[in-house]
Amino acid sequence: MTDASITYMAPHQLSTRLAPVYNEAIVRKFTIATMFWGIVAFLVGCTIAAELCWPGLSMGISYLNFGRLRPVHTSAAIFAFGGNALFATSLYVVQRTCRARLFGGAALAEFLFWGYNFFIVMAALSYVMGFSRSQEYSEPPWHVTIFLVIVWVCYAVVFVGTLLRREEPHIYVANWFYLAFILTVAILVLVNNAAVPVSLYSSHAYVAYGGVQNALIQWWYGHNAVGFFLTAAFLGMMYYFIPKQANRPVYSYRLSIVHFWSLIFMYIWAGPHHLHYTSLPDWTQTLGMAFSIMLWMPSWGGMINGLMTLSGAWDKLRTDPALRFSVTAVGFYGMSTFEGPVMSVRDVNALAHYTDWVIGHVHSGALGWVAFISFGAIYYLVPVLWNRTGLYSKKLVAWHYWIATLGIVFYMTSMWVAGIMQGLMWRAYDKFGFLQYSFVESVNAVHPYYIIRLMGGLMFLVGALIMVFNLVMTVRSRTTEEFARTSQDYPDAVMAGE
Ligand code: HEM
Ligand code: HEM
Repeated sequence: MTDASITYMAPHQLSTRLAPVYNEAIVRKFTIATMFWGIVAFLVGCTIAAELCWPGLSMGISYLNFGRLRPVHTSAAIFAFGGNALFATSLYVVQRTCRARLFGGAALAEFLFWGYNFFIVMAALSYVMGFSRSQEYSEPPWHVTIFLVIVWVCYAVVFVGTLLRREEPHIYVANWFYLAFILTVAILVLVNNAAVPVSLYSSHAYVAYGGVQNALIQWWYGHNAVGFFLTAAFLGMMYYFIPKQANRPVYSYRLSIVHFWSLIFMYIWAGPHHLHYTSLPDWTQTLGMAFSIMLWMPSWGGMINGLMTLSGAWDKLRTDPALRFSVTAVGFYGMSTFEGPVMSVRDVNALAHYTDWVIGHVHSGALGWVAFISFGAIYYLVPVLWNRTGLYSKKLVAWHYWIATLGIVFYMTSMWVAGIMQGLMWRAYDKFGFLQYSFVESVNAVHPYYIIRLMGGLMFLVGALIMVFNLVMTVRSRTTEEFARTSQDYPDAVMAGE
């Protein structure tokens, strides 16, 4: 389906104009950092998964205990791995689709890279040393957060500045998603971190909100971190890289615009589904639930748009294993955005909340959607950025794909079974009205499933190591396997329609 109301430049018109020299050095750095942090995140994920199987594993060393390593894992996965992938792709996409070099020059771009990664190292060190705000996904002490805010403002300046100096009349839809992510994350971080520090030298600060208001703000933040960091921004990735890999325009440009506006309008209200059966007023919980269910529509609209972009090009899945990652990612996106609304229904949440079902849901989104769409984009990017004819080995991509996919299946299914079992055990009564199981019995019951989860995580890690090897070899060797990448020639500005 094409959209006749928007005019696009014909390919021959584009080719007559000189492309500006893009800043790709910075994209290369962010790409390397993505893979580095990916391995760290998966490794720490496996470590804490093992600690949940065998709690003595930390050997009493406080730096290695579960409570400290868990935020290292979540931050490394979301902000370090996911964040660097988003920086890399957004800075690449905005230059290409706007036909403009990055605003602010090389120095500002370098500051983004070093500043953001410095923030990550500082945050991780804080957690390992035991400093934390104890609010999930928002743990860094206030000094570290202020530094993040400075970096983020620069990011917004670079991105918006590049959009403003664009040579293309149209702002391609992927940029809308990236822009929503940049602006919303700025607002979320500022509001959720409002606090009064005890002193300049103390990491401790009093949060500006008390009691249930604090909980509401925290989950407004937390849910929209999912909505805008882990979803909207990666949809930007989907809208650029899938058409490029499939070598076709996006299925419906009109649908992508509807997808964008409905998604950002609805996500922002859904946070209270994290606070069912709490002292939050009932109507607020119902509001969160209603918006979560409504989110089904834009999410699936987006998924259909991503998948249908392949119509007529499905055969490419056989020859391009990197595209398999992107397409499977969209499938997982559909699955986790189906599961989420179901879990947000109060009665379902009564069973799911506090159980491993939530962990299973998180990782079907995190591994299946976030990591897979990033892998697809990186496999596409590395040969382009390092000017190679193709990847070192397509066979290794296929190995990575199957090992990682199987790993996700192990992870998710074990957590679903463990979670539903926990939920049912906690609510089971005997004929006298006493709880049928003690908590410890439920902990014992999930032990085998924790081991299966660990196996799944290790497979995911091995897959990522294969990827690193393949990418390093791609960069190092000049005699690469022939890899027909006609999509590279496909003009950026006409992706949206012909
Ligand atoms: C090898 C891969 C991975 C393994 C083995 C793994 C393992 C774990 C474990 C054991 C937990 C703690 C669960 C608990 O507290 O009961 C966890 C939490 C979490 N992980 Fe992962 N993880 C992996 C990859 C990822 C990735 C790639 C992301 C994000 C992009 C991610 C995001 C999260 C989040 C957000 C949580 C917190 C969930 C919650 O509080 O409900 N993980 N992970
Ligand atoms: C329509 C879309 C979605 C809805 C309505 C939704 C809904 C939910 C619900 C109801 C919970 C459980 C809250 C609880 O009982 O504690 C949850 C947890 C979570 N979801 Fe989703 N979800 C959606 C999509 C996604 C996607 C795509 C991802 C990841 C990429 C994701 C990541 C998470 C995370 C990280 C948590 C755990 C939060 C925590 O407790 O730490 N969700 N979601």
